[in-house]
Order: sequence, then structure tokens, then C-alpha cells
Amino acid sequence: MRTQVVIVGAGPAGLLLGQILHKHGVANVILERQTGDYVLGRVRAGVIEQVTQDLLDEVGVGGRMHRDGLVHEAVQICVDGARHRIPLKELTGKTVMVYGQTEITRDLMEGRAGIGAPTVYSAGDVTLHDIFGDKPRVSYQAEGKSHEIACDFIAGCDGFHGVCRASVPPDAITTHERVYPFGWLGILTDTPPVLDEVVYVRHPLGFALCSMRGPTRSRYYIQCDLADDVEAWPDQRFWDALKPRLDDEARARLVTGPSIEKSIAPLRSFVAEPIRFGRLFLAGDAAHIVPPTGAKGLNLAASDVRYLSRALIEHYAEKSEAGIDCYSERALARVWKAERFSWWLTMLLHKISDNTFDRKIQLAELDYLFRSKAASTAFAENYVGLPY
Ligand code: FAD
Ligand code: DHB
Repeated sequence: MRTQVVIVGAGPAGLLLGQILHKHGVANVILERQTGDYVLGRVRAGVIEQVTQDLLDEVGVGGRMHRDGLVHEAVQICVDGARHRIPLKELTGKTVMVYGQTEITRDLMEGRAGIGAPTVYSAGDVTLHDIFGDKPRVSYQAEGKSHEIACDFIAGCDGFHGVCRASVPPDAITTHERVYPFGWLGILTDTPPVLDEVVYVRHPLGFALCSMRGPTRSRYYIQCDLADDVEAWPDQRFWDALKPRLDDEARARLVTGPSIEKSIAPLRSFVAEPIRFGRLFLAGDAAHIVPPTGAKGLNLAASDVRYLSRALIEHYAEKSEAGIDCYSERALARVWKAERFSWWLTMLLHKISDNTFDRKIQLAELDYLFRSKAASTAFAENYVGLPY
């Protein structure tokens, strides 16, 4: 079998890349280790930047997002029981969309089924061959048989634990990493959101986040220990931990109910450099990880895909290597700014230690953020997404 681009991973990065390439006549095959249902079962990000929305529209799968997604003109930050509103639209002219990653994945999967482009789910033992040569190949196992695809390029969209980054010789790659000593425990509930805007909470008991998926579905997170196990967090314990972190009004409005999903995510900052190796390109979580505090993970995956798709389309249409040669540098320039913002917001809002100096510095910076229009604008510019 032969195709132009083999895409490893059918998460948002791989599916979006596949749609854009197909639209521009570039043939591609997606290989995904899990089943489609498994991919759809993962509850993750919720805040979508304008530039990500534009890409979904470009490939014709943004309809349901515009119908069911919630346009947010502001976010709120609650510090030790007092809530402050940051008016994103007033400060930047831009808004964000609250629409779950699960729904985006579903829309992209349906879009791909609609165009009849090939996706192999449950592909085992995906192995890359000859990435630095002219004729790379990808082999895999499916339905008990061995398969191999010859291609021009390989797109590694297979997430942090994928095979693509791991296939690169260690001396060709540099990695930069910070692992945080806490995680997020998240729950999804069929209850109305506590407020109609996303609220980030800084409290001496630890960070919390109140978000939503619609008028009757809420998504909440609390800071937890890395050693915590979801089994140790029955719903009542979660609500008991969340409530005291909220302000009086939010606490009074909070509607609790049974969780329909509950999971723990560790927090990590990670960047690989470069993200192009011969004919292999990394995109999304395969290349970098941000802690979720700035809601940037999914949006960065989309921005990598934008740079990579433009480069590949240009290569086939104009026989030019310019975009391909610049991909790593261009994508990483935007990645590092989102890494900085996500790290900064994480350090600002979490309980980092019992050191009172650290706490006082957080409070001073938050006070400045709320009082200074320059500081609020800098926050808002980063939150809605920096320009390409
Ligand atoms: P992924 O979504 O990880 O997709 C990679 C795909 O590759 C997966 O389907 C995987 O099964 C497949 N794959 C892996 N290995 C192989 C292989 N060897 N062969 C074939 N296929 C393979 N971001 C936010 O902004 N807010 C959040 O609240 C948030 N919460 C998160 C919670 C968790 C637990 C995780 C892991 C991430 C979270 N993120 C969040 C980050 C965001 O979800 C990711 O940035 C986004 O999913 C990146 O998309 P991706 O397509 O690059 O990678
Ligand atoms: C959500 C997740 C985030 O990481 C974030 O910063 C804001 C909202 C969410 O799941 O809704």
C-alpha cells in the first residue's frame, strides 16, 4: 500500500490534519492504536480559541460547534473567596468557545467518515522505518495480519506516550521538562453550571476550576495529590473539597449530583526540539505538553497542524521545501509562548508549597493582574490565543 502522508494517531491533531490535507488533494491514511469508541470516551479540554474554530470551519466540521458551543466573552478568577472578571472581548476584541474536545473529535470523525478517507483503528505495533531516507514506511498489525504503507511523509500525532517521538535517535532530539508535584481531579456531571462563565479558583486549600459543557452539564476540577487514586474520591468527597474553595455566591448556587466521569491528570510542561526529523514531523502532544491551566493543549495541537498542513500542501502544489524546512522553528515559536503562559498561570493559581513568601507573591501578582489594564490585557491576549 502507498499514500502521500501516514498520520499516526486519531486524536484531534491527527484527525484535523487528515481533513485539511484531504481537502487540498493530499492523500493520507490514519493509524490509531485504540478503537474509535475509546478515543471518544476520553474527556479532556473544553476551551477553544478562535484560530482553532477557524480551522474546524475551514474543513467544514464547525457546524455543531457553532450551534451547541458556548461563546464566552470573559473568564473569572476567584482569589481566596473574592471573584474578579476579566473581560476578554473588551480587552482584545476576541472571544473563546466552550465546546468539549470529545465533541470536536466526534465532528472530525464524522467528517472523515463522510469523505471516505481511510482510518485504521486498533492498529497494533505501529513502527516507523527509514525516516531520514527518501522512502519512509510505516508497518503495523491489524486483524491478525502485518501491513506496511510506503509514503512521502509521516506525521506523528500520537500524543505524549506515542511511538513517533520515541523512534527518533536520542542524539537528534533535545527535551525540556517540568513535572509539577500535583494533579487535577476532574468530574463531569449532569447539573447546571455554577455560573455562566469559566471560573479559575485560587484558594489556600488548593486550585479549583468550574467549567461547563452546556446549560445542564458541568465540568469541575480540583487540585489533588499526584499519589491520589480516583477510587479514593467518591462524589461526596469531591463536592466537600470543592465547596470551601468557592466564593459565597458560587457556593450557594452550586448544584451537586452524581458524576458521569471522573479522572486524574498529572500536570507537566514538556517541549521536544526540533519537531522535524527528516520525513517525520511531530505535532500536538507528541511534541509538547502544557499543564491544562491555560486551556492551551488542544489549541496548540491545532496550531501545529495549521503550520504543518500549509507546509505539506505547499510542498505538493509548488514543489517547495520552504514551509517544511521552517515548520519546526515556526511551530515552536508559538508553542514556547503558550508554554510560558500555561506555566505562569499554573504557578499563580495552585497551592505550590506551605511557604508564606510564595503565597504572598501569588497574591501580589493577582492583585496587579486585576488592577492593571496592561496586565489584564496581557492575560487576555494569551488566553484568547496569540496570533499566528
Ligand atoms: P491525543 O489527543 O493524545 O491523541 C493521540 C492519539 O494517538 C490517541 O488517540 C492515541 O490513542 C494515539 N496513539 C498513541 N500511541 C499510538 C501508537 N503507538 N500508534 C497509533 N496511535 C497511537 N487540555 C486542555 O486544554 N484542557 C484540559 O482540561 C485538558 N485535560 C487533559 C486531560 C488528560 C488526561 C490529558 C492526557 C490531556 C488533557 N489536555 C487538556 C490536553 C489535550 O487534551 C491535548 O493537548 C490534546 O488531546 C492533544 O491532541 P493530540 O491529538 O495531539 O493528542
Ligand atoms: C476546561 C479545561 C481547562 O483546562 C481549562 O483551562 C478550562 C476549561 C474544561 O474542561 O472545560
